[in-house]
This record gives sequence, C-alpha cells and structure tokens, in this order.
Amino acid sequence: MPILAKRVQKLHSSGIRVIAGLADKIPACIKLHIGIPDFFTPANIKTAGCAAIESNLTAYSPNAGETPVRQALAKKTNQQFRLMSRSKRRDVINYEQVVLTAGGMGALSTCINALLDPGDEIILPNPGWPNFFMIPLAQGVKFKFYPLFVKNNFVPRPADIESQITAKTKVILLNTPANPTGAVIPRVVLEAIVKIAKRHDLWIICDECYEAIIFEGQHFSPFVLDPKRVVVVRSFSKTYAMTGWRVGYTISNLEVANKIRELNECQIACVPTFCQWAAKAALEGPQTSVRQMVNSYKKRRDLVVQLLKQYGLYQYTPAGAFYILIDISKSGLDSETFALKLLRDRQVAVAPGATFGSQAKKYVRICFAVKEKDLREGIRRIAAQVFGK
Ligand SMILES: Cc1ncc(COP(=O)(O)O)c(C=O)c1O
Repeated sequence: MPILAKRVQKLHSSGIRVIAGLADKIPACIKLHIGIPDFFTPANIKTAGCAAIESNLTAYSPNAGETPVRQALAKKTNQQFRLMSRSKRRDVINYEQVVLTAGGMGALSTCINALLDPGDEIILPNPGWPNFFMIPLAQGVKFKFYPLFVKNNFVPRPADIESQITAKTKVILLNTPANPTGAVIPRVVLEAIVKIAKRHDLWIICDECYEAIIFEGQHFSPFVLDPKRVVVVRSFSKTYAMTGWRVGYTISNLEVANKIRELNECQIACVPTFCQWAAKAALEGPQTSVRQMVNSYKKRRDLVVQLLKQYGLYQYTPAGAFYILIDISKSGLDSETFALKLLRDRQVAVAPGATFGSQAKKYVRICFAVKEKDLREGIRRIAAQVFGK
C-alpha cells in the first residue's frame, strides 16, 4: 500500500478527544472536559432552521454564503466595530468581506490555507486550543509559540510575540476571549501587537469565537485598528449554542475574502443552506437567550473561583469564554496521568493541560458550561485527587 501523506502522519487527536472517548464509556461520569454549552439552541433559531427546510432551502448556496445572511452579519459587525473605532459613523466593512465557513474551525483552516504556504511560519499562543497547531501541521505550515503566563492572567506580552518572529513568519494568531485560559486581551495590548505586525509586515488572524461571552471589560477586535491586515474568525457555535449547526465566518479584506470563498468552493461548497438561514434568525431575533446564557456562565465562573479558593487551588479569574485552567502540580502527576487517574478513580473527565501546550502541563482545563451540581462535585473530586485524599 502507498503511505499516507507525510504531513498528516504527525497529526493525532488532541488529548481532549482521547479523554472524551474514554469518558463516554463511563456511566455517571462528570464531564468537564469539552467545550459544549449545556443549553439547547434557542427556539426561534430552531424554528427558522425547520422553516428553511420546509421551504426547500436545501440546495447549494453561493460559496461565500447567502447574500442576506452576509449582509445581516456585516450590519451586526459594523454596529460593533463603530463603537470600537474612532469614526463612529462610518461602516468599517461591507458584506463582501464576510464569508460563511464550516464553523470557526472551517474559518481557521481556510484562512490559514489562504495566507500561508507550506514552510511559512505562524506564531501561536501557548497554551492554546489544539486545533491552532493541528491545522498548520496538516497543511505543512510551520509554527512557533509565544508563552502565556498565569501571573499576567494569560494575556500575551507583545515582546514575547515579537521575539518569535523570523524571516519565515507570515501570521500572528491571537485568540480573545481565549480557550483554554478564558483570557481577554485588552485594547492597549492589541494595539501594541498590531504595531508589531505592521513593523514586520505580518498578517494577524484573530479568533473571536467567544466574543459574546465576556464577564469583565469589553471585547475589542484588532480588525478596527488595521482592517487590511487582520482576519477575524467568528462562529455561531458558542454564542447561540449552535455547535452542531456548523456556521462560522471570516471578516477580512476583500482579496482575502475572495480567496476564502474560492477555497470554500473546493472544500465544502457552502455551509448547509438551511443552517445559514437559521443563523440569520439568530442574529436578527431577540438576544435575550444570549444574555441569559452569558449571565449563567458568569454565575458559574464565580462559583468555580469561589470553590477553587475554598480548596486552595485558586490562581486567576477568567474574564471570558467558559474555561479555566486548574493547577494540579501538588498531585505530583503530569497532566495526562492526572486526567486519566481522575477519570478512572473518581469518574471526572477533564482536559489535560499538556494538550494545550508546554505552558499548561501542570494544569487541567475544565469547561464551566455545565450544571452547578456537577461543578461542585467535580471540583471537590479534583481537589481530593490533587491533595491525595
Ligand atoms: C478558540 C476556538 N476557536 C474556534 C473554535 C471552533 O468552534 P466551531 O468550529 O464549533 O465554530 C473553538 C471550539 O471549541 C474554539 O475553542
């Protein structure tokens, strides 16, 4: 038999999926390992999806997505961007700069494909979401990491990013709010990073899939600082509890948007058409369910912080998304062994920190988009495992 492509031979499922496979076989397991909101998709969105199917909106759409959906996204984004930018009245983008993708993952892999050749380098956060390096790995793109530190609430330090730049670097990847840390990058830090990107003539990809899930401060997008250089990756998955609908999008300059559209043609053709219409209903319908979900994530974030303080495991407070890293170093175990032992001995599934990068190898990540009862009991068992009780 011929061998598989060398590029993909190094690709392996992340530690999150490994734990997920094992956890699914354990009845009554407390599942804190995976980032799925514990809410169902709001009713108005489901109704719009069903209505689109009933109306036979089930054929291919244009590769970039249905124009009214892109227009609705441009309208919402311009409202947000106007508040962030100095020219409060002018639109920052038009709808042709928005391209619908197969979730945030599709957005990321397509824009990495559009911006980098094999052998080029992308600079990634460490710790960061595993797909940030799995995508370049699968595409033959090289990657380097900038470290994030708990003492800085896992907010990147611009000098750490700049020190990773080489003659081969083409892209800096940012993630705000971030997975797995929950860090939100403040405007001043983003301004400094955009200056670095300008100085070295680099692209920025900013993953903003959690932009709506923010507890302190406000989300700021570097796109408004340099709309030609920054490509934004966003998604309906987390904001609207729509992980299975697979609707994401990119916001970029027109040249990049056209290339992402062409890549869509040869990769997915389009996002399922009825899912696009459901997404439009999500944008244009009442946002009360989003507010309720975000409020409940904040309540649970506060509970997690209180429990970690109570057990002597508190290190920092995430400002967004629905994840926190918990230091397990007092257990004397590495994060993978800890996660496996916790699962086997105490039936709690967590994501081992090492899967997010070397900077997280003394941590495990939990997702707090789960029931309070599970958080209380799960964290009690994590603490018992850390302190060997
Ligand atoms: C940081 C980040 N970006 C992107 C995604 C992709 O989400 P989706 O493809 O479901 O839109 C995720 C999912 O967990 C994520 O954590």
